[in-house]
Amino acid sequence: MNVLVAGGAGYIGSHTVKRLKEAGHKPVIYDNLSRGHREVIEILDVPAVIADLNDRTALSEALTDNRIDTVMHFAAYAYVGESVDKPLMYYQNNVATTLNVLECMEEAGVERFVFSSTCAIYGDPDKVPITEDQKKAPVSPYGRSKLVVEWILQDYLAAHPKFKCAALRYFNASGCALDGTIGEDHDPETHLIPVVLQSILGLKPEITVFGTDYPTKDGTNVRDYIHVEDLADAHILAMEKMTEGHPIFCNLGTGNGFSVKEIILAAEKVTGKKAPVKYGPRRAGDAIALFANPTLAKTLLGWEAKHKDPETIIQSAWNWFSKHQRGYAVSP
Ligand SMILES: NC(=O)c1ccc[n+]([C@@H]2O[C@H](COP(=O)([O-])OP(=O)(O)OC[C@H]3O[C@@H](n4cnc5c(N)ncnc54)[C@H](O)[C@@H]3O)[C@@H](O)[C@H]2O)c1
Repeated sequence: MNVLVAGGAGYIGSHTVKRLKEAGHKPVIYDNLSRGHREVIEILDVPAVIADLNDRTALSEALTDNRIDTVMHFAAYAYVGESVDKPLMYYQNNVATTLNVLECMEEAGVERFVFSSTCAIYGDPDKVPITEDQKKAPVSPYGRSKLVVEWILQDYLAAHPKFKCAALRYFNASGCALDGTIGEDHDPETHLIPVVLQSILGLKPEITVFGTDYPTKDGTNVRDYIHVEDLADAHILAMEKMTEGHPIFCNLGTGNGFSVKEIILAAEKVTGKKAPVKYGPRRAGDAIALFANPTLAKTLLGWEAKHKDPETIIQSAWNWFSKHQRGYAVSP
């Protein structure tokens, strides 16, 4: 299929472009490079349109010129803390741009859409593992911006029964391409695994663990770390399997929860080095434990995570981070 990958120069989008290409599809990246990397487009060697999703002329041309069948929409801002400080910027970039995408798709007759949603729509859940029917109570503008898009999709589906769509609620995307070609380069980096590896490499002075008195196995927060290539494969399956009248709204996680301390220990084992750890108080807004019940994804997509053990995920990240200490800026 011809797939427009909005946000394809970012972390999860670029790994999905790689897998799409390997699976014989024809991805076209659409990215304004606000938080993505020109270097990854060169490495992936695929066509790209460098433009903002607010540029409706560029977007419409990208859809028609490339005879696009499916849009995968990864483009968004995704920092919880930043969303609290700049809510309008988040609703503009995560919600308003999605309206542009859907309107331009309608004009161009493109009827297949895969959307990056998030476990943040559940907020601090009453029970784990989380099933899709649980209460949606996001606690940040970021989480709410994603839930608003899910509501828009539900309303659009009701009015346009031919529309085929999937909203995939990722847990903690992590790891890098297993062949070492592409990786993760966020600025600032806030995700646990990269932060631990960067502190082990001496690029950050230390890693702060926020809260050691949570009601979890060792007092630290528990999360579900899902390898980025597993996420990419789920997108391809969703694109291939979604049909008229059967939208897919589902969790993408391994189903296993690992604590912050367990991830730090696993990183020390993989790297053979000690991480400089500092313990601090709880951080406002952090859920105690978030991990998926992944059954629905298995039923609807025939998908389950291949990489369930954090050491494999961390090893793939270590392969990349240890060779790209300044991210794509100094890539070979
Ligand atoms: N990283 C995670 O753990 C995680 C978890 C759940 C959901 N998500 C969602 O997955 C998606 C991808 O996350 P990521 O970590 O790859 O983020 P990222 O910042 O690496 O990638 C986002 C890309 O979108 C581009 N972009 C942003 N706004 C744009 C606009 N208006 N026009 C064109 N391009 C634009 C950026 O330049 C960037 O390349 C996001 O929607 C995020 O909310 C991520």
